[in-house]
Amino acid sequence: MTMTDRNILLVQSSARTDASTSRRLAAALADRLGGTVTLRDVAPGSDFVDGDWVSANFTPAPERSDAQRDRLSGSDALVAEIAAADTLIIGLPIYNFGMPATLKAWIDQIARAGVTFRYTENGPEGLMKGKKAYIVVASGGTEAFGEIDFATPHLRHVLGFIGITDVEVIRADRQMIRGEDAVLDAEAAISAIAA
Ligand SMILES: Cc1cc2nc3c(=O)[nH]c(=O)nc-3n(C[C@H](O)[C@H](O)[C@H](O)COP(=O)(O)O)c2cc1C
Repeated sequence: MTMTDRNILLVQSSARTDASTSRRLAAALADRLGGTVTLRDVAPGSDFVDGDWVSANFTPAPERSDAQRDRLSGSDALVAEIAAADTLIIGLPIYNFGMPATLKAWIDQIARAGVTFRYTENGPEGLMKGKKAYIVVASGGTEAFGEIDFATPHLRHVLGFIGITDVEVIRADRQMIRGEDAVLDAEAAISAIAA
């Protein structure tokens, strides 16, 4: 793939803007990879799944009412962004040992039975195949993939569940412990990926 024909979906989730490590590094990776970048900033919040959403989702598409179609339109748009991308870059701050609630809300909108995954006789099958994902994780003291990190393994698992199994993790973790090395190491990893 050349730089110009790459389609990147950049998913940002930090509640912070200018001071955010995950935003800065994820954007830097998008910039270094090059191509068309679509920004999906989930920090302002997405629709929450509730009973109406679930019934709309489980109603076969041709039988959905206008209200049900309307209720799923936001989710449809988020799924379409993933379908159109060949590369996902997700900024992941660790909040209270998990991912930000806003990022989880996005996941609940894009994990759609029959759309991004399906159940087969052999178990679930992801339908968003042939894509590459990068997770840029930032934390204060929690080690990425350590036993109290419920954010990175969760996000990586969900990506695999929808068919995106080629996932690379860039770590700016334990910034309060490692100091500026945390960011310098992540920047070096980004340079190595882009090279
Ligand atoms: C609400 C909140 C909860 C946090 N919880 C954790 C945590 O559980 N573990 C941790 O290591 N750091 C935690 N932090 C620190 C952030 O992970 C760290 O500041 C990281 O750089 C945030 O990403 P950002 O720089 O992209 O905003 C928390 C920060 C906030 C704002």
